[in-house]
Amino acid sequence: MPITYNSDCKAFLISTPGMTYAMEVTSLGYLRSTHWGGVVKRAQDLSVKLLSLREGMLTWKDQYASGSISSHERKMAFEKQNEEIAPWGGYMFCEPGVKAVFHDGTRDVVLKYHSHEIDKKENYETLSVTLKDANYPLKVVLHYRIYEGLDIVDRWTVATNEGEEDILLESLQSAAWHLPQGKEYRLSHMSGKWSAEYQIERIQLTQSKVVLDNRSGISNHFATPWFALDYKGQAQEESGKVWFGALHWSGNWKIVAEINEFHQARVVGGINDFDSTWKLAASESFTTPIFTGGYSNAGFGKASRALHDYVNRHLLPHPHAAETRLPVMYNCWSVFEFDINVEQQIKLAKVAADIGCEVFMVDDGWFSTRDDDTSGLGDWWCSPTKFPNGLKPLIDAVKEHGMTFGLWVEPEMVNEQSELFNKHPEWTIYFPTRERTTGRNQLVLNFGRQDVQDWCYDWMDKLLTENDIDWIKWDMNRYISEPGWPDMPKDRQKEIWTRFVHGLYSVYARLRKKHPNVKYINCSSGGGRADFGLFRYTDRLTLTDNGDCLDFLKLWWGYSQFLPPRLPGTGFNNAPSNGINGRSVPFEYRLTKGFFGAMSVGSNFFKSDANELKRSAESIALYKKVRHLVAAGDVYRLVSPYENPCMAMMYAAKDKSQALLLIMTHSMQFYNLLPTVKLQGLDPDTLYKVGDLGTYSGAGLMEKGLAFKYKADYDSRVIFIEKCE
Ligand code: DGJ
Repeated sequence: MPITYNSDCKAFLISTPGMTYAMEVTSLGYLRSTHWGGVVKRAQDLSVKLLSLREGMLTWKDQYASGSISSHERKMAFEKQNEEIAPWGGYMFCEPGVKAVFHDGTRDVVLKYHSHEIDKKENYETLSVTLKDANYPLKVVLHYRIYEGLDIVDRWTVATNEGEEDILLESLQSAAWHLPQGKEYRLSHMSGKWSAEYQIERIQLTQSKVVLDNRSGISNHFATPWFALDYKGQAQEESGKVWFGALHWSGNWKIVAEINEFHQARVVGGINDFDSTWKLAASESFTTPIFTGGYSNAGFGKASRALHDYVNRHLLPHPHAAETRLPVMYNCWSVFEFDINVEQQIKLAKVAADIGCEVFMVDDGWFSTRDDDTSGLGDWWCSPTKFPNGLKPLIDAVKEHGMTFGLWVEPEMVNEQSELFNKHPEWTIYFPTRERTTGRNQLVLNFGRQDVQDWCYDWMDKLLTENDIDWIKWDMNRYISEPGWPDMPKDRQKEIWTRFVHGLYSVYARLRKKHPNVKYINCSSGGGRADFGLFRYTDRLTLTDNGDCLDFLKLWWGYSQFLPPRLPGTGFNNAPSNGINGRSVPFEYRLTKGFFGAMSVGSNFFKSDANELKRSAESIALYKKVRHLVAAGDVYRLVSPYENPCMAMMYAAKDKSQALLLIMTHSMQFYNLLPTVKLQGLDPDTLYKVGDLGTYSGAGLMEKGLAFKYKADYDSRVIFIEKCE
């Protein structure tokens, strides 16, 4: 039984194959975390008394238990150690999980255990623990969900106002995670910027708070709602203990990692409470986003694989997510940008189909007056000059070639130069007394408003009903500023950040329900919204706007920490220099990049020579033979581009019968030898055919590895490995 309650010691054990998460109800009724880490089967072994390393804490407990201490402060201090969600109230000074103001002005929340429920379903179990405030009608339910075979627990919080008077929620976090006591944790997180997402940072925590957050309205390029902690930096790719988590939220978020004076390490996270409140009226509830957490006893690699399996099995919209034939997509945005028209697109579609592409995507520039980024957003009808007869002629041509069709939209945005803005300037996010700051010449529509949501749903529903569209690329190309909502009562103004995200999710949910076969690409100036929240509704990701193959190595290393390879289009094109650095790399090197994710092609075929088309077609054909490994294999990061002039990764079938090995080198210097590539995830006793390199045992490949002779800079390998018959 994975979730159990031991009524003798009032303890909960949440057990997965390699992880135990435990809590107990204290003698005063608080809910306290007692363990998150390796497997412990007996709840009795996890009592706080045994875990406490500080003499002081033991003494307090012993004295308190024997009745020899009367100090209220000490009793409370002990009782509130490691309180599960840690409301701000009582003798508590850590980052709170709940902060509220009651109708009489009281700003102190005291939550005590009330009841619990364990709900068992076929593939998952959920524990819901109800806490209630001692003096006010605030109910807080903490939810914990585990899934078959995964060392992962989903947590979220629901607050309900059971009284008549409003309660102002100043913070309601999804979870507070307590790690084993210790003061030398290392925090891994991601920084970045536009075209440089997913950059891994590792910092040593001290007795302090480190706040990872963003306030830009979307989950962002600068930071990623993911964390990992290991002790003293001892974890490596395939060894050491790692605690990790990812937040399901596409708006402002916050993850606080702190170590307190008792060397207790905690991570608290959820919707950012900066400039954000929520009025909970009588009988209303507020549900936080999910915060997924997990534990790995075998390094960052195992942590990533657990998150990948979780995303593939439980997050992505099904049944699409079970599809292992990741279709090869063509999109000419990077070479033509807005300069498109129906004749040109029909010609490109023919070549795309000839070389093996399976989806033809029309990007920005197809609608209203959209010849550059200064106008048109909001006016979602075909450009009368570029597509005079609508989309049908192109869609028909695409379908005749046996491909499916995709279309770009940016529904949350409006240009001031548009009919929509002239008609509904009040639909944007703005403060009436302030100038509206534009980003890429556009303003943000207030998706918190029901009328804006309905408008968006209606035109997209019409677009999808009238046209045979299989894919939508949903873009979002600026952050949110001047977060005003003039029509909203003053005491609800700060709800805009949250209501915007709820509105976005609601439109997605309605569209998916009405058009269940349409798939969505999650794009935000590249990877500005690579968060678990949006992958409940979207099927793919634009990894980045940066096409540079060298930058890709680090982008991919970071990206793969938390999301699986099947999501991003990893493309190649024939532009002379790719990406923001103006660097040129060999075409063969660009082709290899395509194998890492969902292969996509962005070439200007009007400039392609015969050899390039032939090599593109050959690569696509090979990709089709190995793409099931990209879609559902176990990811092993073998050689880091942070420490080596090369990156190697492999995707191994779960039954260990096949694998795909991908290597990309970069700048060779001083005649340095590149590392031998030691494989992972194979069966030691099985013989494998390794591309055309020969036959080796799994043990040999994993213990001794493969050495390659590379040619100058920008060499690469795509090697298919298969069990010998
Ligand atoms: C930003 C996206 O990341 C690109 O792929 C492209 O769709 C442009 N927007 C179009 O404006």
